[in-house]
Amino acid sequence: MFYVEHFYGHKNGKTQKFSTEQFFLRFISQSAHRQITLAEGKLAAIFRHVHECIPQICLGNAQRSGIAPIPFVRYSTCQPMQKTLAVVNQKGGVGKTTTAINLATAFALEGLQCLLIDCDPQANTTGGLGFQRDADRHSVYDLLLGNATAEEIALETGLERLRLIPSSKHLIGANIELVPSKDRAFRLKNAIQGVRQTYDWIVLDCPPALDLLTLNALVAADSLLIPMQAEYFALEGVSELVSTLERVRDSIHPDLVIEGVVLTMYDERTNLAQQVTENLRNFFGEKLLKTTIPRNIRVAEAPSHGMPVQVYDARSRGAESYMELAREILHRNHVESPREKERKAAAARHQAANKETKVRFWPYT
Ligand SMILES: Nc1ncnc2c1ncn2[C@@H]1O[C@H](COP(=O)(O)OP(=O)(O)O)[C@@H](O)[C@H]1O
Ligand SMILES: [Mg+2]
Repeated sequence: MFYVEHFYGHKNGKTQKFSTEQFFLRFISQSAHRQITLAEGKLAAIFRHVHECIPQICLGNAQRSGIAPIPFVRYSTCQPMQKTLAVVNQKGGVGKTTTAINLATAFALEGLQCLLIDCDPQANTTGGLGFQRDADRHSVYDLLLGNATAEEIALETGLERLRLIPSSKHLIGANIELVPSKDRAFRLKNAIQGVRQTYDWIVLDCPPALDLLTLNALVAADSLLIPMQAEYFALEGVSELVSTLERVRDSIHPDLVIEGVVLTMYDERTNLAQQVTENLRNFFGEKLLKTTIPRNIRVAEAPSHGMPVQVYDARSRGAESYMELAREILHRNHVESPREKERKAAAARHQAANKETKVRFWPYT
């Protein structure tokens, strides 16, 4: 996957640099692709979508509008789509750790490179993936204090494309030790800068508090995933979380957005769950994700075996819903994972094969 940052065009004998936005609006939108622009309004996303046909579109439309691209579109910056997602909610027991482990696993199973970072001193993500809580091993603590790099610390997990930066109990101290430091909120962001391009997704599991560790995660993240339980007090604390988000946006990180709100341990049969879901939909609008994670015993059992639920019992409802959640998030980001491409190709082959083997009976019509 690539995104195009800007183009070079040749107009009135001069070479000009156009941003993708200018380029799209001035040249491509004159074509049949106009409706895509109008419908979506998200240029970056569209460009990721159509990046393969950009040279042709560009040449055709640019020539028609009197612009001669030189010699054709140049991808000035081609980078893989990368996103850092913080799983955050200051309430404990809402399913942050479970979501971080199983969502990161789902991304890896979809064929994407994923790094999971355990930012919680309780180290449940670390334990849930089968690692001992070893205080002597390098951890996020060393990352925050600059004792080691992310590349050195990242551990291989049982899954091919999933790596973990573990936590340790030393992390409790970081909350206090970092206070005198001027860049205390930027430590994690700076520490993972070097590995951002190595991974398609970086998932951060946050502690159940709005402390300095969570602040580091918010500053390092591009977007937030908020797991919530559909219970009577669900919205309690959300306003605090949202106002923290706004403060971070105003002061440090204006691009921080909510990726989505996911309902965990969900039981759709109860009236209460439906009522609370309605309230959350009114509050969060389209940010409330369609996928819900049901209460599922296999999800609860998996960490005690040191496995993500997809490895422990791939056919359980819990495993399937986490795969569904990953696909929904990828879809919203206009990312087509390697597995999705394979599924589409297989469906196309299947369709073609069906056409070929169509049996015709006499008399042919
Ligand atoms: N979908 C689910 N079905 C059943 N139990 C779940 C589910 N999600 C989480 N749990 C259980 O709920 C508890 C709290 O989840 P956890 O992910 O540790 O929350 P947090 O990280 O927000 O504190 C854990 O014991 C976990 O196994
Ligand atoms: Mg947790």
